[in-house]
Amino acid sequence: MGPEDPMRHCIYPGTFDPITRGHLDVLARASNLFDRVTVAVADNAGKGPLFSAEQRVALIRPNVTGFTNVAVTTFDGLLVEFAVREKAHAIIRGLRALSDFEFEFNMALMNRHLEPQLETIFVMPNEQFSYTSSSLVKQVARLGGQVGHFVPPNVAEALQAAFRK
Ligand code: COA
Repeated sequence: MGPEDPMRHCIYPGTFDPITRGHLDVLARASNLFDRVTVAVADNAGKGPLFSAEQRVALIRPNVTGFTNVAVTTFDGLLVEFAVREKAHAIIRGLRALSDFEFEFNMALMNRHLEPQLETIFVMPNEQFSYTSSSLVKQVARLGGQVGHFVPPNVAEALQAAFRK
């Protein structure tokens, strides 16, 4: 991290259980803004994820092959410590609606307290994804609804398989 590194590198962290088209929209914006983007999948056992961290990474990877500057990995522990180890300059997060703001604001300020050099940058995903969330998608899929509008095909298949009796 620091001004001496000419490659601008950002971390796009999340639970990604599973990745949605809204997340991919944020990722496309991050990929345009930065030289390198690392999608960091939190090994967030507290959220009781449907997919393991390795499965979540495997669901993301085929959807990022079109980006030449995007890598995908898992992390555990503090996000800022991971970001410093990765020599990242920024964390990028999507803001879908006002309801995201308070949580994101608190997280950004806590991360700044922990690591003042690291900026958090917010981008707005396309409004067609403003009401998408991983848990809503899982709920619809569990009840047999179509989720192809919200997630890429490999994720829709994985959801169907996960909820198949
Ligand atoms: N499109 C669609 N959905 C989106 C979205 C977008 N662009 N952006 C966010 N979401 C949704 C997700 O689908 C998810 O929905 P859900 O809660 O219904 O499952 C929710 O918003 C947030 O999920 P996600 O984007 O995957 O991130 P997160 O909020 O779970 O990630 C971490 C939080 C991992 C970044 C945070 O917990 C963290 O940093 N953990 C590491 C430990 C740490 O450092 N803690 C201190 C933090 S101050």
